[in-house]
Amino acid sequence: MSDTTAEMTPANALLTLGEKQLELPLLVGSEGERAIDIQSLRARTGCITFDPGYGNTGSCESAITFIDGEQGILRYRGIPIEQFENGASFTEVALLLLCGELPSQAEYDLFSADLTRFANLDEGMKHQFEGFPRSAPPMAILSAMINSLSCFHPELHALDDAEQVRQAAARLISKVRTIAAYAFRHSRGLPYIYPDQNLRYVPNLLHMMFSQPYQQYVCPQLVREALNLILILHADHEQNCSTSTVRLVGSSGANLFTSCAAGVCALWGPLHGGANVEVLDMLERIHQGHISPEEYVRLAKNKDSKVRLMGFGHRVYKNFDPRARMLGAIAERLLPQLAGNDPLLEIARRLEEIALSDSYFIERKLYPNVDFYSGVLLRAIGIPTNMFTVVFAIGRLPGWIAHWWEQNRTPGSRIGRPRQIYTGAQERDYRPIDQRIESKRMTS
Ligand code: CMC
Repeated sequence: MSDTTAEMTPANALLTLGEKQLELPLLVGSEGERAIDIQSLRARTGCITFDPGYGNTGSCESAITFIDGEQGILRYRGIPIEQFENGASFTEVALLLLCGELPSQAEYDLFSADLTRFANLDEGMKHQFEGFPRSAPPMAILSAMINSLSCFHPELHALDDAEQVRQAAARLISKVRTIAAYAFRHSRGLPYIYPDQNLRYVPNLLHMMFSQPYQQYVCPQLVREALNLILILHADHEQNCSTSTVRLVGSSGANLFTSCAAGVCALWGPLHGGANVEVLDMLERIHQGHISPEEYVRLAKNKDSKVRLMGFGHRVYKNFDPRARMLGAIAERLLPQLAGNDPLLEIARRLEEIALSDSYFIERKLYPNVDFYSGVLLRAIGIPTNMFTVVFAIGRLPGWIAHWWEQNRTPGSRIGRPRQIYTGAQERDYRPIDQRIESKRMTS
């Protein structure tokens, strides 16, 4: 038995550390989640906690999104995400996350009008796109250009009240769509298409991506509905890697644009939002006959292969990710109408079937996550693969802003600054260069 044990009492936790005993407060969330408050631990014991990957660490209290990973539950401000499937718009969900309540008609209209009003980019920003090579990944451009908004809106660096935040959020949520569309046009060498004030959020994005100067893109109703729902389902997911990044950067006092630009960088990684691109690559490889679904799953189980079944597994969900369930059902329903019989959907279904009946995936509780079906759907509505993660970022932006603001207005919020266990060399002397022995070793 170790000399460190933690016991729970209804009101606190009792920690025994060698000879010492100390009581630590127990926090209980509104859905009954419990946490041991260790804020005084180091001062009282000299010890820190060790939790690489933060799987057991609560970094904040938050009233925005609730996840029950065991049950497969996801709620925005208390509302189950399944309820957004029938008629909710991404704009109202964004307001719900930002403000805590669903907007009234007047609030909705005002915010929608702001989204329209702020859609244009300063011409100076437009010229910046020319500096990027054609082959630049759109996620790199997105992050750079969101950061660039800090240069064009110094008046929005310090946000002190909810109305200022609402205004800044409207600018950012609106302009990110224009930036995304221009990044796409740039990669194709196409002229930029200005936003159309008569179009709502989703059709305007598609218009800026796909219209030509001589031909207006007409957005089919099904495409609008599917993309609207995809954005809603990505809108927030509590303390994931990119949201935690936004909070960490914001905790230093960094402005909203810069903090969200950092969020884009975190989202880009293949283990996070970049997985939607990886899933499609995986499905394409199987479709092109390079490997069978059975062989792929076998490979994903072999640790030496470094291959993972992309779109499977989640830090929090140990059951179906409800977003994957919804996206899978939508893909099933809409794909025949949008893209005929897509062989990639068949392959995805087959992979899911094999994995869900395989003891490796069952024992580790690995289920399809949000990225497993989103790529097939995005492809069907005409979004190119290199824009998949950009669409994820557009969807996630309201969540990032809501978290940035929640942290900003939390009394006593401190700069994020984890500790470490140092494992390097102990104290030693500096040697002049002519007295050093050549070392071939690279330090890690
Ligand atoms: N394929 C094969 N094995 C897997 C997979 C997978 N997709 N995911 C996890 N495992 C195994 C892993 O090898 C480990 O096995 P063992 O216990 O034998 O060492 C076990 O399952 C636990 O995995 P972990 O890496 O410790 O879990 P994590 O919570 O650190 O990582 C994850 C979560 C999502 C990064 C991981 O499941 C993964 O890499 N999945 C594939 C990438 C992916 O789809 N990412 C999207 C995540 S959801 C949306 C988002 O966040 O943007």
